[in-house]
Amino acid sequence: MSDKFLYSLARPILFSMDAESAHHFTLPALKRLSALGLTRAMVRRPKDDPRTVMGLTFRNPVGLAAGLDKDGAFIDALADLGFGSIEVGTVTPRAQPGNPKPRMFRLPAAHGIINRMGFNNGGVDAFVANVQSSRFYQNREGVLGLNIGKNADTPIERAVDDYLHCLGKVYPYASYVTVNISSPNTKNLRQLQGASELDGLLSQLKEAQLRLADQHKRYVPMTLKIAPDMDGDQVKNIADALLRHKIDGVIATNTTLSRTAVEGMQHGAEAGGLSGAPVFELSNNVIRLLKAELGDALPIIGVGGIMQGKGAKAKLEAGAQLVQLYSGLIYAGPALVRDCADALRG
Ligand SMILES: Cc1cc2nc3c(=O)[nH]c(=O)nc-3n(C[C@H](O)[C@H](O)[C@H](O)COP(=O)(O)O)c2cc1C
Repeated sequence: MSDKFLYSLARPILFSMDAESAHHFTLPALKRLSALGLTRAMVRRPKDDPRTVMGLTFRNPVGLAAGLDKDGAFIDALADLGFGSIEVGTVTPRAQPGNPKPRMFRLPAAHGIINRMGFNNGGVDAFVANVQSSRFYQNREGVLGLNIGKNADTPIERAVDDYLHCLGKVYPYASYVTVNISSPNTKNLRQLQGASELDGLLSQLKEAQLRLADQHKRYVPMTLKIAPDMDGDQVKNIADALLRHKIDGVIATNTTLSRTAVEGMQHGAEAGGLSGAPVFELSNNVIRLLKAELGDALPIIGVGGIMQGKGAKAKLEAGAQLVQLYSGLIYAGPALVRDCADALRG
């Protein structure tokens, strides 16, 4: 039985549950299947197609985007799906519950998702313990990105303290660290993308990264994850800051606040970030703007609305070197990893 056929059976059952319940059902189920060795038997993994980016070797260019596994509790199960890299988080210094439920909504007619989870997670110490206990980390099976953020109740003027705290904690276990300043669901977070705030944040993070590299005798690249809701000048400012502070990569993009593509649909007016097909072109535009500013100075990881292999290809054509998936997995299932990897093999 093919993995596509199996997912065509599972999807209606999952879609009959509310989105967050389906999430909490699927990941533990996947973990059990994986522990029994069944995932690898059921899912046909892509052929290796290594890419070296930021000094790291990615087995293939298709990664898991942050937010699906916020606590790093399902790393091995997700790795069995054949990703070239796994990014987990966003994690914050202290555990926090996130926003009240319901806070995740499917928009099937648009192949979209709206979420306002609000960085629900068990805190960075539990996160690090999960990472440490994963086979993926212990055996250095692949590229592991650890994505960090700030607690909701940390004042935005002190945000840098939260990022520095998390960076220090996750650094020894990460292949790369992502600094997430683009979630729309933590009040004022996106302010950190503004020119003066970003300069302050990146200069302190860079200093800490170099100090940690010295301490651990290993340089861990740092990427910045940005929003799609920016005009050309704002993207240019960010690109300049990335170059000025010698940041190692940029992940474009997070979810959008735009609702143009989902107006009038059920759940279309829910607050939060919209992902999936409706963010595809917005993200591609940001990638193109970044590429024009950055050239080959630093790599772009393209994420947003990849629902098929050809979407992954479009990200590379726009200027990305690697891609990541989230919402597409919900709609197309795990075979999407292989479809994208096949489309990018060249
Ligand atoms: C339910 C949900 C939760 C998310 N949580 C995070 C998160 O914690 N940190 C983060 O950097 N991105 C988070 N994202 C954003 C995704 O990583 C990705 O950037 C975005 O969804 C666009 O990609 P997609 O269209 O393939 O989903 C989340 C997305 C969704 C749908």
